Amino acid sequence: TAPATAALPLKGKLALVTAGPTVEPIDPVRFISNRSSGKMGIAVADALALAGATVKLVLGPTRYAPTVPGVETIHVKTAADMFNSCIANYPMSDIVVMAAAVADYRPKTVVDTKIKKGAEDGLTLELEKTHDILRTLGNNKGQDQLLVGFSLETNNEKEYALKKLHEKNLDLVVLNSLKDDGAGFDHDTNKVTLFDRLGRETALPLKTKLEVAQDIVSAIIELQNG
Ligand code: CTP
Ligand code: CA
Repeated sequence: TAPATAALPLKGKLALVTAGPTVEPIDPVRFISNRSSGKMGIAVADALALAGATVKLVLGPTRYAPTVPGVETIHVKTAADMFNSCIANYPMSDIVVMAAAVADYRPKTVVDTKIKKGAEDGLTLELEKTHDILRTLGNNKGQDQLLVGFSLETNNEKEYALKKLHEKNLDLVVLNSLKDDGAGFDHDTNKVTLFDRLGRETALPLKTKLEVAQDIVSAIIELQNG
């Protein structure tokens, strides 16, 4: 039989993963969100746990949950909640994978009573930028921390993915193109391309999200050992 270290290559490592959408309230009955199901990030959390890591999953609102025992799930709603949870858990994390679809903008003010339909034909909401969690983590990355981001694109995919790899100081970026069949929201499959800090590009075929997650974990292990 293989030694335990080969079976559980991430034993002793702490991993922080984000997944799912964020939900940004407008008033007590309305919000702004996106189509993320959380499945890809949850699969990454599961795959890291299967490789032996101690995993904390910061999860936005979704009906899905990790299936591998031992994944600690921290439920959050807004980008601000997710930011706070990530900042609190970052210093002790060896591996960080940000798969969440974080809102880029939120309503500038949250109205505390229901907004009533007015006489006007239109309604304008004023939005403000959220913190870019991944960029903040990248700017504060420690010597031995490994940081992975996702890049969800519909056009100029490679250019945008590489831009995120460099600008957010990542070790690995997972390009998820919405042009690919079977790679859309809420699917059980995905088709991605990995770009790492050493300039390597790996295009993976269409696979289940758990298989994609296990390939991402293999790339993480390789970068950690190399
Ligand atoms: N991300 C984040 N905080 C945000 C926005 C994004 O941590 N406020 C992370 C995502 O989890 C993902 C990566 O940044 O790992 C890229 O997200 P993406 O939406 O593809 O890129 P953005 O940098 O937000 O740029 P844009 O949406 O304009 O493409
Ligand atoms: Ca974005």
